[in-house]
Amino acid sequence: MGSGFSVRDRSVPCGVVGDLTHAFPRWQFYYTSELRGLRFFTQLLFRHTPDHLMVDQTLQVAQEAAHVYLFGQLLEDHGEKPVQGDLGLQEHLALRVAKPPLTMIGRLAMAATVEQLALAEYNQRLKRKTYACDCEKEALEMIVEDESWHVDHLQNMAHSIDEQGVEWAKWRIQLRMAADRLREDAGPLGAGGELFRAPLPHGKVH
Ligand SMILES: [Fe+2]
Ligand SMILES: [Fe+2]
Ligand SMILES: [Zn+2]
Repeated sequence: MGSGFSVRDRSVPCGVVGDLTHAFPRWQFYYTSELRGLRFFTQLLFRHTPDHLMVDQTLQVAQEAAHVYLFGQLLEDHGEKPVQGDLGLQEHLALRVAKPPLTMIGRLAMAATVEQLALAEYNQRLKRKTYACDCEKEALEMIVEDESWHVDHLQNMAHSIDEQGVEWAKWRIQLRMAADRLREDAGPLGAGGELFRAPLPHGKVH
């Protein structure tokens, strides 16, 4: 169930000498997305977590906090200030759903879809070696290891509210289609396609 707290060893060499400014908007986007995830999962921990899932939910919050820390540290180590943006993966996805979910199960399904999108993005970047330097590679590797169990955990949370899982399944299908649209709008990863650069859908204003 993940590696626990991930803290990067700052002594690892960067592997790149030169201009990394092209990577900063992406790192900021990852930072913002993880931060917004952390906020949601922390609220979940205090308000909506059944006793038997408290330990799991606490670990997830700890890991999401570690991810915020890792991207923040990545930016700082390269001379950039982490900024709390207001447009993360969550918002990019929500803009592509006709009506974003308001119920708890819907919001859990949304969070699970965001988790999958982030995990796929990080994995692809590692696989295609499109990270900017060894520091980014190392941060992504640590995070990917943590993220592996989060979607199953969110499904457990949803099933603790509604065992049948009908609403969960309905939202998951709808949100997966929205995630596909976002991926398409962004263009292929490695060919300049960046999720955070995906244009806002027609008529939507953030
Ligand atoms: Fe995360
Ligand atoms: Fe996660
Ligand atoms: Zn570096």
